[in-house]
Amino acid sequence: MDNRPIGVFDSGLGGLTAVQALRELLPDENIIYFGDTARMPYGTKSVKALRQMALQDMELLADRGVKAIIAACGTVSSTAADVLSAFRLPVFNVVDASVRAMAEIEGSGPLAVIATRASIESGVFKRRITQLAPEKKVIALPCQSFVELIESGHSEARDPLVQKCVAESLEPLKDRGISALLLGCTHFGYLDEAIKAYLGDGVKLVSASHCAARSMSSYLKARAMTGGSGRVSYLTSGSGDEFARRASDLMGRNISALVSCVSPMEVDNL
Ligand code: DGL
Repeated sequence: MDNRPIGVFDSGLGGLTAVQALRELLPDENIIYFGDTARMPYGTKSVKALRQMALQDMELLADRGVKAIIAACGTVSSTAADVLSAFRLPVFNVVDASVRAMAEIEGSGPLAVIATRASIESGVFKRRITQLAPEKKVIALPCQSFVELIESGHSEARDPLVQKCVAESLEPLKDRGISALLLGCTHFGYLDEAIKAYLGDGVKLVSASHCAARSMSSYLKARAMTGGSGRVSYLTSGSGDEFARRASDLMGRNISALVSCVSPMEVDNL
């Protein structure tokens, strides 16, 4: 039994998809979420900056006594995996489990992955899936504009702006007979309905957030490290009111009372 909280971080709201997955799997866990909204988006930053930011984000959570961390950010997971794994606490990224899930997909069509610009430029998702499933064609596509879309309050499948943005960005994947699409940026989970509506039900969506949450759940259970009272608190480096409003909308419950602000952190070479 270990009542210390789990830490989860992302550039902004996207990592909340991992919090929601964790709450389904481990409802009693206490969770501290950090959304680094002041420095969002991460997907357009340099690798050097991302590696510093990953460390700062983990230190911020470690200072609050977490027992383990999910780096609920595909960008950090694909550009700073060694920084995450060298940290003094157990840290789960959103690449390892999700590429395994993709490699296990049955179906003859190509596999696709969408993520931020920096994640796709790193080549990590595509390379790792190809290593595990060399017989499969893998298509990798950056969809950086989805991040701003969600951060600005647009995620509903019936929202014309969402439909337009999804259609423009995913056009290269339309009618390609894709078997599965990995949502390699944690924000994209909030567009799953719109993505399904555009690509059709035949494409299986794999959530990197859910895969990471499942890995952490198995890890904690296997080591008797679960425990808590189901308390979740939210930290943001940006506007607390804005974070509370948007996060409440996305999660379908009012979390305003649980949000606190932290000072924005600085890095060299953004
Ligand atoms: N949600 C993050 C990711 O999974 C970051 C998106 C961004 O800030 O560009 O990559």
